[in-house]
Amino acid sequence: MERQQAKERIDALRSTLRENSRLYYVENAPVISDYEFDMLMHELESLEAEFPEFASEDSPTRKVGSDLDKGFVQKPHRYPMLSLANTYSIEEVEEFAARAEKSLQSGFSWCCELKFDGTAICLTYRNGVLAQALTRGDGVVGDDVTANARRISNLPIRLHGDYPEEFEIRGEVLMPYAAFDALNHERELQEEAPFANPRNAASGSLKLIDPEEVAHRGLYCTLYHIPAQSLSFTSHDEALRAAASWGLPVSEDRRLCHSIPEIREYIDYWDTQRKFLPYATDGIVIKINEMEYQRELGYTSKSPRWAVAYKFKAEQACTPILSIDYQVGRTGAVTPVANLEPVQLSGTVVKRATLVNADQMQMLDIREGDWVYVEKGGEIIPKITGVEESRRQPGAKAPEFPAVCPDCGTPLVREEDEAKWFCPNKDGCPMQIKGALIHFMSRKAMNILAGEMTVEQFYNLGLVRTPADLYSLSENQLLMLEGWKEKSVKRFLASLAESRKVPFERVLFAIGIRFVGETTARELAAHFGSIDALAEASREQLLEVQDVGDVIADSVVAWFANPAHRQEVERLRAAGLQLSGKGAAEAVSDALAGKTIVVSGTFSVSRDEIKALIAANGGKNSGSISAKTTFLLAGDSPGPEKVRKCGELGISIIDEKTFREMIPAAQLTQPAPTPETAAQESGQLSLF
Ligand code: IVH
Repeated sequence: MERQQAKERIDALRSTLRENSRLYYVENAPVISDYEFDMLMHELESLEAEFPEFASEDSPTRKVGSDLDKGFVQKPHRYPMLSLANTYSIEEVEEFAARAEKSLQSGFSWCCELKFDGTAICLTYRNGVLAQALTRGDGVVGDDVTANARRISNLPIRLHGDYPEEFEIRGEVLMPYAAFDALNHERELQEEAPFANPRNAASGSLKLIDPEEVAHRGLYCTLYHIPAQSLSFTSHDEALRAAASWGLPVSEDRRLCHSIPEIREYIDYWDTQRKFLPYATDGIVIKINEMEYQRELGYTSKSPRWAVAYKFKAEQACTPILSIDYQVGRTGAVTPVANLEPVQLSGTVVKRATLVNADQMQMLDIREGDWVYVEKGGEIIPKITGVEESRRQPGAKAPEFPAVCPDCGTPLVREEDEAKWFCPNKDGCPMQIKGALIHFMSRKAMNILAGEMTVEQFYNLGLVRTPADLYSLSENQLLMLEGWKEKSVKRFLASLAESRKVPFERVLFAIGIRFVGETTARELAAHFGSIDALAEASREQLLEVQDVGDVIADSVVAWFANPAHRQEVERLRAAGLQLSGKGAAEAVSDALAGKTIVVSGTFSVSRDEIKALIAANGGKNSGSISAKTTFLLAGDSPGPEKVRKCGELGISIIDEKTFREMIPAAQLTQPAPTPETAAQESGQLSLF
């Protein structure tokens, strides 16, 4: 390649890799496969080796990808958090091992481990207690996710046995397939974009603002590395055995190998057996076991020279497309889904696969009847990743993306910045109406005991069009319906009656304002206290709520601007639903009367819930520290400027535990019990 041409390609590769690294680490929404990413990285590495004059400290080949997120406090890593050199070729693994054998003296071994496909975490234990958890970040600083890590159920908050006073240990946070499927199923019901794979779900969950929500995500942690500078062991395996003896989760699936054929055997074994693991792995890591030799080989700026990752290629199947459906979801988003000639893939038969959106169809250049490659990689609906052009029928036509809604015939629209086409007929499109009803009745919303078939039946008979219609159904009407018996009618009516007690925050979630998921609904309810106050809120007032940005604020304003929605709210009010209340914080006391309180940092519940508790107990919330402030209520990582000002003005700072002791116990909004809170309750541990 010419010099100039090489320079241009290097620049293009660097910018493509940076953008894809951001999509992968920050957005948790990769658009290219790991394999494609790794191939681009390898191409850049070889070009930089061939043209060293274009080397740059800033190149993605020298830096680990960054997952830093503005919503978290960043803390420095005591020892840089590096990545691993990787390859898809067994021969390259063998060359790596042969090189090490040549340069090192005899008497060393390889520790072969699974390469867990999650998100990296660095933990510090101090006096046997989990004191800090940082994400990898950019390798130099990480996001402080301590409160969230404490919600990972298999991660001990307190160690046992003969643990050292202080040490660091690193590993991976994973979302097992079962938890991933449940989460995505839930998200689909709520028409939230499903996570692309368990790894993105794990990393997105670890970055949730509300630790209470993290506890429900079913995360799992496995630890695989104690930095040699942190504790001195003679071997890596010995370090991991010690960690396990202190109660830390360490995989038993590693193996000490003494020769290249043994490494190969380990790789071959896990290449097939990994399909039976309950979580995702994407390769094997081969590490030199003896610390002495690790030290001798050292590190590059990006990865250790004493380890290499062998990555498995995602399993694929090739099969023809029989037809394409265009599915309309609850929000009106239209998704193309291909019906396939059934084919075996990673232990299951695949009959349908998503084509994601119109852009993806165009990018793949799909034609009718094409043989396509399908990959699973943990997703619920497998994805079509490529086309086998050699099997294409001559003259095969490109399928036409519909111009109108396949369900109601309304012309589809596509907003700027949206990857999907939408049916705008929100209140008239049968799929959207039924989707909204299913969502309204779902467990996390109103918890009304009826399934999709019932909604279909109600809809087809013209009995129900909006949620409020459900509350007009009479016993006699239901008894006349096919398949309904006295018992099922009673059960259904009882659950409708129960739903009248569902708190306002869940009603708000149930009515299905676009982008208002469970957490946002909770925050909005805590902030505004009633649907009437919310309906009158301006865009600016909405933006004051924690986690509410432009998209949510606009969506709420637009929803209430629709007279049909206002009318529906009145019908729900007449049906006796809870349209006001700030959750458990509503009960009042005057315990904080006359006190002006500033809230800062993260708490076991959202900040808005804390503020609601202050208001409910007669206190006054204030945004800034002044001479009038009674105290600063500080959670984890409070604003340093606020803390400094308190020092200056002699204002006291109190923590969440002390605050909770100041207000009547019955009013506490308690986080769900977690190992941490359970330990606190039993008096084993105080975090404050
Ligand atoms: S060792 C100094 N061991 O893979 C190197 N990493 O692609 C420390 N990973 O950044 C890492 N399983 O997040 C190590 N058994 C394992 C691993 C593992 C997964 C991750 C880790 C690393 C990434 C590199």
